[in-house]
Amino acid sequence: MAQDWQKHDMEFLGGRRLRRTRRTAWSRAMVRETMLTPSDLIWPLFVIEGHNEKTQIRTMPGVERLSVDLCVEAAKAARDAGIPALALFPNTPDHLRSESGAEAYNPDNLMCRALSAIKDAVPEVGLIADVALDEYSSDGQDGLVRDGEILNDETVAVMIRSALVQSKAGADIIAPSDMMDGRVGAIREALDGEGFEQKQIMAYAAKYASYYYGPFREAVGSGSRLKGDKRTYQMDYANSDEAMREIEQDIAEGADSVMVKPGLPYLDIVRRAKDSFNIPIYAYQVSGEFAMIEMAAAAGAIDRKGAILESLWAFKRAGASGVLTYFALEVARELGR
Ligand code: PBG
Repeated sequence: MAQDWQKHDMEFLGGRRLRRTRRTAWSRAMVRETMLTPSDLIWPLFVIEGHNEKTQIRTMPGVERLSVDLCVEAAKAARDAGIPALALFPNTPDHLRSESGAEAYNPDNLMCRALSAIKDAVPEVGLIADVALDEYSSDGQDGLVRDGEILNDETVAVMIRSALVQSKAGADIIAPSDMMDGRVGAIREALDGEGFEQKQIMAYAAKYASYYYGPFREAVGSGSRLKGDKRTYQMDYANSDEAMREIEQDIAEGADSVMVKPGLPYLDIVRRAKDSFNIPIYAYQVSGEFAMIEMAAAAGAIDRKGAILESLWAFKRAGASGVLTYFALEVARELGR
């Protein structure tokens, strides 16, 4: 019986009761330490050829690849919801993929057409262009391959050309996601040399060789081509000091902001980077993380909306300046309500 419960002597608390500020909604709001707003969200889009074309991605329920005209509509929706920037990823048609990845620097490639169409129609939204060869090469690796080896300096030379056509097409931020050594400095120098000194570089600085990229590789069509893994350039998930060296190096080479990727399993890296460097740090809530939330929610295991907001808030708490997330549009609209 409840009445029989003895009230324990709580004198040792000395009046300090941490639950006091949690008792009411107004008080919880008052002591809340971090905020999530639409301007924290960057929305990745997958681009395909065609007109008024959308295709489903089996492992990313609710995300569709969009033709350029529909990307323009998506960009308008993003702008209206207060999203500051989009990150574009092309699904290059098979016949244009090659060992040399030459389509990456074709000024009329799918990526460039998407960049210029969106920039024309919705100039107030920032455009982030991914630079890596896996979206253009026939073997699904981020770099050029010779005798099974991923070539560093030769890959950087191709990336420079890719970054230049993307910049001309309307990219505002060049985002090398390949983890080759020296690419940030080389791209910075090339951009400055071509009159693009105002283009930013967001370096995928601490990018891990992760199992969480699976659905993305389906989305851009690189997964089925990929033989082996990316462990000779993406980082070992056991390491944290090495991530700090990667970030330090990219900052020294001229990065304007850096990224940690994947997101939620690597929040320790986000926090450590935030405490170590004075530069905006972005985190990428990658496709596998997206799929885990969607699929767990679909199975009735977790509350979908609650879990999404909690996951995004965790990035802010860890010190991220913003998050690349496939939930961006939905969440920005929700936050704006
Ligand atoms: C490739 C690239 C990848 C992602 C972004 N750029 C995949 C990879 O490195 O294999 C993953 C994003 C995601 O999983 O959502 N350059």
